[in-house]
Amino acid sequence: MSAPATPLPDPSPAPALPRHCTFSPSDWAVLATFWHPVARVADIADQPVAVRLLDQEIVLYRTSTGLTAAADLCAHRGAPLSLGRLREGRLACAYHGYCYDAAGRCTAIPAHPDAPIPAKLHLRVFRSAERYGLLWVCLDPHSSREIPPFPEFADPAFQVISIPPLRWAAAAGRQLESFCDVAHFAFVHENTFAAAHPVVPRYHVEPAPHGLRADFTSHVGNVSDPSAAARVWRRVYELHVPFVAHLTVHFPEQGRFVILNAGCPRSARQTDVFAIVAREFDHDRPVEETIAFQQRVYAEDQAIVERQNPEDLPIDLAEEVHVRADLTSVVYRRQLATLGLGRTFTA
Ligand code: FES
Ligand SMILES: [Fe+2]
Repeated sequence: MSAPATPLPDPSPAPALPRHCTFSPSDWAVLATFWHPVARVADIADQPVAVRLLDQEIVLYRTSTGLTAAADLCAHRGAPLSLGRLREGRLACAYHGYCYDAAGRCTAIPAHPDAPIPAKLHLRVFRSAERYGLLWVCLDPHSSREIPPFPEFADPAFQVISIPPLRWAAAAGRQLESFCDVAHFAFVHENTFAAAHPVVPRYHVEPAPHGLRADFTSHVGNVSDPSAAARVWRRVYELHVPFVAHLTVHFPEQGRFVILNAGCPRSARQTDVFAIVAREFDHDRPVEETIAFQQRVYAEDQAIVERQNPEDLPIDLAEEVHVRADLTSVVYRRQLATLGLGRTFTA
């Protein structure tokens, strides 16, 4: 379920810009202060896993004390530790077999078993926390930000379904904006959930300290269920800057259907999308069916968003055209600007 954040070795090192960084240094410094999901906890088993966050290569490994997220770089000769193996609760490097414990300390040099171990043989460990079945990482050790809430995850009235991570060749801001866009349903999703209701009624968007809240009522129907076409659906988006959205769809007769959409910005042009569904109804419906349906919906979005130009989300409102139906994205872009991000996510 949830676990406290991994403590950092003291003193905490300052966050360092990764090599080959695709973000401008100032944008990277802002984005590094947030928690981002990097993997599903269930996908980190008995061997190390390589992930990337904001261009930082990270190795995830499991020991008896829990999960560790460290720079994927052996302190001896710079081999990726994700090529190594877990042996007796230690991560052993694939090159010379040096072993590292949960705190990133080197505990064994096989070539010299009896010699003292230099203190510099220490991995750079990042703050990490398990929440909602995901492992979240914050690269800035001095940040006081928090992981966005997802109360339905622990609510027994809801069935929780984790969608396998999706990898998009797109900027995280573009991905999140598409998730919260209410004007594309009738065009992008006509083969999945949206019957022909292209008109976007007036809706309400409120800026909030965490980002924004959008409240939208529409007549989006379900083409696989014609009787649903006449229903009125209310959708409430809680957007947590920069890349997390919590959507609650209120079905008039059945209850709530929630999607947490959490983007991991691997780089300025690559995003892993972690989606978790929580539903108050249909608990007997096969989970595989729901996963397959969500994958189809996301694939419809992906086909468009990966082709948008410019690839980055323009934060300067003068760069693209906005109409009333785009109110959520206008407020989203304004909120990103207040974080101190530049005109786009890259230079
Ligand atoms: S590079 Fe890892 S042990 Fe030598
Ligand atoms: Fe969509």
